[in-house]
Amino acid sequence: MMKWLQDAVFYEIYPQSFYDANGDGIGDLIGIIEKLDYIKELGCNALWINPFYDSPFKDAGYDVRDYKKVAARYGTDEDGVRLFEEAHKRGIKVLIDLVPGHTSEEHEWFKASSKAEKNEYSDRYIWSDFIFNGIEGHPYIGGEAERDGVYMLNFFKCQPALNYGWLKPTEPWQKGIDDPACLATRKAMADVMRFWLEKGCDGFRVDMADSLVKEDDENKSGTCQIYRDILPGLWHDFPHAAFVSEWNNPDQAINGAGFDMDFYLNHPGNGVNSLFRDYITEGEDRSFFRADGHGDITRFLEEYQPRYNKTMMSGYISLITCNHDTPRLTKTLTKREIELAYAFIFTMPGVPFLYYGDEIGMKYLDLPTKEGGYFRTGSRTPMQWNSGKNLGFSEADAADLYLPVDDAPDAPNAADAMKDPDSLYHTVKDLIALRHANKDLQANTYCEVIYAEKEKFPFIYKRGSFIMVLNPSKETMTNIIPAGFAKVYGIGDIEALPVDESDVLKVGPQSFAVFKATTEKAREAAIAWK
Ligand code: NOJ
Repeated sequence: MMKWLQDAVFYEIYPQSFYDANGDGIGDLIGIIEKLDYIKELGCNALWINPFYDSPFKDAGYDVRDYKKVAARYGTDEDGVRLFEEAHKRGIKVLIDLVPGHTSEEHEWFKASSKAEKNEYSDRYIWSDFIFNGIEGHPYIGGEAERDGVYMLNFFKCQPALNYGWLKPTEPWQKGIDDPACLATRKAMADVMRFWLEKGCDGFRVDMADSLVKEDDENKSGTCQIYRDILPGLWHDFPHAAFVSEWNNPDQAINGAGFDMDFYLNHPGNGVNSLFRDYITEGEDRSFFRADGHGDITRFLEEYQPRYNKTMMSGYISLITCNHDTPRLTKTLTKREIELAYAFIFTMPGVPFLYYGDEIGMKYLDLPTKEGGYFRTGSRTPMQWNSGKNLGFSEADAADLYLPVDDAPDAPNAADAMKDPDSLYHTVKDLIALRHANKDLQANTYCEVIYAEKEKFPFIYKRGSFIMVLNPSKETMTNIIPAGFAKVYGIGDIEALPVDESDVLKVGPQSFAVFKATTEKAREAAIAWK
């Protein structure tokens, strides 16, 4: 397992909206450089930057026109290199976004692939062999190219699928994954990764990582084979490079494909929604972190634990506060509920990711779509730095901003939050500092569930000599525990009070604590909660 990930805390930056250093209304790479000290002070020591490549931006940059060029609106290739260098000077690693499954329809490869005459790129994308032969089970486009045939899409209409082959081709136009044309696609993508690693990035967040081979088997063995081929070659030359997949299946991504980390996203079937935003229970939100106490941690654990058990020796599950595709937690949770959610995220095993602005509780805004964002646009608004013009994001006229800044009178900003000891910012900062200071709270140390009962509180889990007690509900509960639990961090009214030979653990409403076992007895004991 990659050593530096053990103590990594990532900060995700959507470059359009982070900081506009040149006053043109959109964020840029120099802007990120100028804010590195802020990120360091918060305690994050790694970045994930959303795509900064040349693009027509029909999907906010996930439609890449040139993988080897920084988009003019973000700066130059040299700015990219400087960003890596400046981050490294501060002990911050940088993962950039790799989009291997598709390009923009404006990519030169696709233009060549669309031509009627056969050329080097004809099979770089997935095409059928006749305009009225569709691609069953997949979205496809016909009638736009000079070439006879239809081409497959990987996501939006602007994103034709790159051709990594089919596990078991059944049509004459389908190629096997080891066909020379598919090997060429694979090689081209490895070459893109090498290009940026040589420039100094520290690895990649891999977009739709599971989408390479079409008609794969249920274990995605074809797609896994491709990463098993590419990654070791890169590690040979860049032994510290790290890779996090947007796969949402840690067993496949980590054990199958060899990724270091896999995101645990808000897809149905992995329990995340039952924690933060419950799309599943009809008619009401029964999220675990809501104070109304209708949540149930076992809904999460039932799905998380088998995945954790299968991958804890080989890689990391990454819990996120939110990302550019997900509504911010402020949409449905209050400040205290969010503090408890963050306490959980930053004390769980694996490698946590904090989305820009989540440290100050930026709001999810109701906005019209921008660059293919649709409902996601509301989580992509400019970072709120201070109370000045455009909340410190840009010197441009408000009308020229990439997206409007939050104009609510109570919109939080970083400068004020840093001054206020009660702000969410300080909770985040303290939790990250606690994690850095204690090896047992970092990525590796085993997480043992001590108490988790259906529709009951609190949730208690142990990592090394630390016991975490989490009660998002409004109820108070008490219990007798062995003496010797010292509170090292707490939110709300929660105490272990010495009474005779034992302690009484009092867990107040909406509270959380990290206790350290200070005696042998306490170290050996699991809290016996009845
Ligand atoms: C996942 C990315 O996170 C999302 O923003 C994008 O639209 C799709 N993949 C397509 O690349």
